[in-house]
Amino acid sequence: MGNIRDITEVSKSTHDEYAYQRFVSILRKKILMDYSKDMRTIYDTRVGPAFEKRNGRAPTGREIRKEMLHEPQFEAWSALRHTAQQMTWWSIQPAVERSLQEMIEIAKEIAEQNPAGGSINLDSEIKIPREVTDLDVHLMPGCFHTEYSDDDVAQGAVYHHGTTVFSGGLPHRKNSKGDVARSIANFVNLRFPDLKPKRILDLGCTAGANTLPYLEVFPDAEIDAIDVGAPVLRFAHARAEAEGKKVHFHQMNAETPTFEDKSFDLITSSFFFHEVSVAATKRIISENYRMLKPGGLMLHMELPPNSEVDPYYEFYLDWDAYYNNEPHYQAFRDMDFPAAIAECGFKPEDYVQFRIPNFGTTDNKEFEDNARGNETERRDHGNGAVWFTFGGFKK
Ligand SMILES: C[S@@+](CC[C@H](N)C(=O)[O-])C[C@H]1O[C@@H](n2cnc3c(N)ncnc32)[C@H](O)[C@@H]1O
Repeated sequence: MGNIRDITEVSKSTHDEYAYQRFVSILRKKILMDYSKDMRTIYDTRVGPAFEKRNGRAPTGREIRKEMLHEPQFEAWSALRHTAQQMTWWSIQPAVERSLQEMIEIAKEIAEQNPAGGSINLDSEIKIPREVTDLDVHLMPGCFHTEYSDDDVAQGAVYHHGTTVFSGGLPHRKNSKGDVARSIANFVNLRFPDLKPKRILDLGCTAGANTLPYLEVFPDAEIDAIDVGAPVLRFAHARAEAEGKKVHFHQMNAETPTFEDKSFDLITSSFFFHEVSVAATKRIISENYRMLKPGGLMLHMELPPNSEVDPYYEFYLDWDAYYNNEPHYQAFRDMDFPAAIAECGFKPEDYVQFRIPNFGTTDNKEFEDNARGNETERRDHGNGAVWFTFGGFKK
């Protein structure tokens, strides 16, 4: 394994490119953490009270959006956020392009050797869902699936390096990748010590950031990870093998997975469901139920449903649905989560949801207290401080 090169280390930014990336990270922090507070103040002091005076009641999230659309503060904030989102990808593309051929060679070589014992199984016949092919999700040029050359890994590299810039200014995100998986894995280990998952499935794994940390907590588990995009999977596999992490990556639609019934103890995902339609969500959860072993747990990290947040936050989260090419985001959060999983085979009483503090930036005792059921402080999902998760046990 000594001569295996880490695909994540190949793209080197120039001094000026790095300065640009830092600028984008800090700009995003300003937008999300500082300017958004100014916008909230305008809502709290003027827009909200004016609505209440006219209507004799507080507005819903949708109504807040209608009101805020006319506010110059929202227009400026939204334009800035949209531009910063595009700049995130632009800031890393030149370095990825310069190193692309080398990364492709590394991924090919690793796929022949599989030094850590994992694998990659691509399906050239796969029909990639419209949710991925019809628009550039997150404004990422080429989305998750586009292949510009044979054996392409570009989209995996763009996503991997772009997300570093994307979250680089946020206090709960800037230290490590894989925060969500690390948080879920540690939480599950503490909260359900008897589960001891032997086989784990990660859906919509993209570049594998939130797949690999399951092996830190459950080193003996067998891990499968699926995605529809070949370039992201090639990158994920090369990276996992270089890190000595044995994961089996598959190009597979989560709506029609080919794993056998009762295969997995834990089925998970992160930032996945809000990108698929509600109809597809239900097909995927039904398949999760089929693939879980009795006693197994499905636990997905996602944005909290609208029933869990105040109307202003609902309006705030809707931004991505309108401007970040995530059209299913709003309908997903409108869903009644316990009812939805009950439609898919789970018993209503076996529904679970947790707000898991971010493992890497939370004091150990606080994390453990939370995992053992004593939620010390109710914090909002956002900027990585806490991860909303939902799912169910198959009894
Ligand atoms: C936002 S990304 C997930 C990010 C990733 N889990 C992480 O934490 O870094 C959503 C991923 O889901 C994949 N995807 C979308 N629809 C899918 C489907 N029906 N089956 C499998 N993967 C899908 C996309 O290709 C994309 O890679």
